[in-house]
Amino acid sequence: MKTIAPSILSADFANLQHDVELVNNSDAQLLHVDVMDGVFVPNISFGFPVMEALHHCSTKPLDVHLMIVHPEKYVQRFCEAGAWSVGFHLEAVDDPRPALDIIRHCGVRTCLTINPDIDPKRLLPYLDQVDMVLLMSVFAGFGGQKFIPETMDKVRFIRREIEERHLDTLLEVDGGVNADNARYLFAAGADVLVAGSAVFRALDPVAAIRQMMQ
Ligand code: DX5
Ligand code: ZN
Repeated sequence: MKTIAPSILSADFANLQHDVELVNNSDAQLLHVDVMDGVFVPNISFGFPVMEALHHCSTKPLDVHLMIVHPEKYVQRFCEAGAWSVGFHLEAVDDPRPALDIIRHCGVRTCLTINPDIDPKRLLPYLDQVDMVLLMSVFAGFGGQKFIPETMDKVRFIRREIEERHLDTLLEVDGGVNADNARYLFAAGADVLVAGSAVFRALDPVAAIRQMMQ
């Protein structure tokens, strides 16, 4: 997979259906759904009712990124609300396995993610146990932040591990992705690039997605 996953966090919440339809009519293969609890991150986004509404009007699979504490309490409901994948932060839990087991049991793809201050080596024991890993290229919590360039080496590092171990784990990058850095991130080995402001602040979001996927 090589795709852009537009982040609905940057959409117009007064016209959510309109912005979901833009993504439906684009080349993007996923729609990224950012859930924040105001505890793990200093921001609150939305929860199950919005997730269900997105599931109702999106033709693209929903890639759910939980920025919450105690993900094991909520992952099942996100699965049931129509997630294609459910990911949560490794640094938010003592042991990611219980929450991963619940997601897997629901028949949904698993994803583990880390903030920029977490050593990517901490993902290595789980690389063969999840469907996707997500490297944050900004600190989780807000859209519209500047891409942290050190992420590039982390992408290469994780990609090398995936190749050496002959895994099919997907590699996703989230934060500050735009038309300038997208091709370098794909070239470094990313499969999925989340883009919020670069899509929804563009004059032509569909064209912006197409441009980043080239
Ligand atoms: C940040 C979120 C991102 C965010 C990306 O906490 O996880 O998905 O929406 O937005 P941009 O592309 O604007 O950095
Ligand atoms: Zn995200």
